[in-house]
Order: sequence, then C-alpha cells, then structure tokens
Amino acid sequence: MEQFEAYLLAHLPVSPSPHPHYETSLRQMLVGGGKRFRPALLLGVVRAYNPLLLSSAYSVALAIELLHTYSLIHDDLPAMDNADLRRGIPTLHTTYDDVTAVLAGDALNTYAFEVLSNAPFSDKVIVKLVRELASNGGLNGMVLGQAIDCFFENTPLTLEQIKMLHIHKTGKLIAASLKMGAIIVGRDDIAQELYDFGIDLGLLFQIQDDILDVTQDSLSAGKTTNNDTSKNSFVTLLGLPKAMDEADILAQKLYLQMESFDENLHRELSPTLSKYINRHKE
Ligand code: IPE
Ligand code: IPE
Ligand code: MG
Ligand code: MG
Ligand code: MG
Repeated sequence: MEQFEAYLLAHLPVSPSPHPHYETSLRQMLVGGGKRFRPALLLGVVRAYNPLLLSSAYSVALAIELLHTYSLIHDDLPAMDNADLRRGIPTLHTTYDDVTAVLAGDALNTYAFEVLSNAPFSDKVIVKLVRELASNGGLNGMVLGQAIDCFFENTPLTLEQIKMLHIHKTGKLIAASLKMGAIIVGRDDIAQELYDFGIDLGLLFQIQDDILDVTQDSLSAGKTTNNDTSKNSFVTLLGLPKAMDEADILAQKLYLQMESFDENLHRELSPTLSKYINRHKE
C-alpha cells in the first residue's frame, strides 16, 4: 500500500488561488491517515486476477478513498455527528469552519468521479465503475444510510432496520470496492459474489466500529469515540456482549466464505481480511 500512498499524494492537483487554506483543507483529511481498507480490497482483487493492471487500478482505488474521505468530513460536521477528531487530527470544521469542511467534502466527492473518468481503462469499463461508485456511494447507498442514521437519532430502530442502515452507510461502499476490482479485471462473472461478500463484510465493519466507539478512547481510535449514545448502533440496541456475539457470528461466516475463494483471491485478500475480521476484539 506504500505505492498507493505515494500515488494519492501525487494526485490532488489544486489550482493556485487566493484562498489561504483551500488546498490544505482538501489534503489534510485525505493524506494524514486512514486504514485504506477499501483501496486494499479493490487492489487485492486486481492483484489476484491481473497484477499487470495494478498500477492502472490505483486511480480507481483513489476515487473510492476520495468519496469515502468526503463522507467522513461531512459525517463529523456539527449537523451530523459533531466530532472533533478524525484520522488523528482535529476535524476540518474545528480547524477552519463549517463552510471549509462542507466544501472540502463536496470537492473530494466530485473529484472522485473526475479521477474515475480519467482512469486508464476502456470507456465501457469506466462507465461501469462510475455506476458502481455512484450507486453505492450516493442516493440509494451511503447517503441514504447517513440520512437514516441522523434522522433516527434518539429514536430506536429494530435490529433489522439497523442492519439495513449499516449496510447502506458502510456496507455498500465496501461491497462496491470488491466489485469494482472484479470489473477492472473483466471478471464480471464473480462480481456479484464478491459484492454479496462485501455487504456482510461491511456490516461486520460497522458493527465493529459501533463496538470500538465504546471500547476505544479517542486517542487510540484517532477519532472521537463515545459518540454514539443517541445513535442506532449495535451496542446501543443490544449492549456490548451481544454486539460482540453478533460480530463473532458474522466474522465466522466470512472466514468460511473466504475459504471457498479460489487460490489467487484467497492469497491476495486474506492479509487484509485477517487483519480486520476480528477487529472488534482489539
Ligand atoms: C470509518 O471508516 C467510517 C465507517 C464507515 C465505519 P474507516 O474506519 O474505514 O475510517 P478510515 O478510513 O480508516 O479513517
Ligand atoms: C459513518 O458511520 C459512516 C460513514 C458513511 C462516514 P460512523 O458515524 O459510525 O463513523 P465514525 O465512527 O464517525 O467513523
Ligand atoms: Mg455517523
Ligand atoms: Mg461519525
Ligand atoms: Mg462510528
């Protein structure tokens, strides 16, 4: 992933302008940290089936990370989760102001699609990639999840509804990362299977995030924790022990599914998956 980090640093061209911190604000949340979980999934699929396309796939991985980073910047705004810390540094609206954070998010969101449109693949592949990122990150994907998350603060949802919420706000972009890897290497035959796996993986990832909100302090998480008391989370609905059980069950299911991956996919994805599948126990 070191090469991907270098690629990311080199691909945020901002025109000179009289604005004193526009460029800094755009870079800050993107470059300073982040697990790069979604890029690692996409690049893992590409390495499994066509390693020659790896460096071309960096732009697509960057597009996903750009969209994800925008979602974090907006998620932290006072109107949403009102969080002070993200990726180990103060959130943009605390360092600057709400306007800067809103616009940095807007810029990263649209730049994601500019980057995708310039990816070194056929127009047909690019259109498929744009469709996946837009539909999973947008109005029936992450944004819908965020809308439900914020609208139902202090109003309990059922377990099924919280699963739906988590699948939208987090699962769909993770699922899209795997599927977009399959699209790049022309393996549309396994795209749906990878997407379905990604939905479960994304649900687990968000349950773990709910757990870490109560088990980690802000310093070790690098973001504001203990921030979910008014939220519909697995922990607020079920309590910590049962949320841990749910995560264990899903982690077990994913381990079993991973065993059925073909040899190449297993080899390339298992380092990332093994690192995160038991994250709730950290
Ligand atoms: C945080 O995502 C928001 C969720 C969807 C849970 P990550 O945990 O992937 O955050 P970064 O990218 O590592 O900062
Ligand atoms: C946010 O979920 C998911 C996004 C789409 C950004 P959270 O609100 O739980 O994410 P954190 O805990 O702030 O990273
Ligand atoms: Mg949130
Ligand atoms: Mg949040
Ligand atoms: Mg959270």
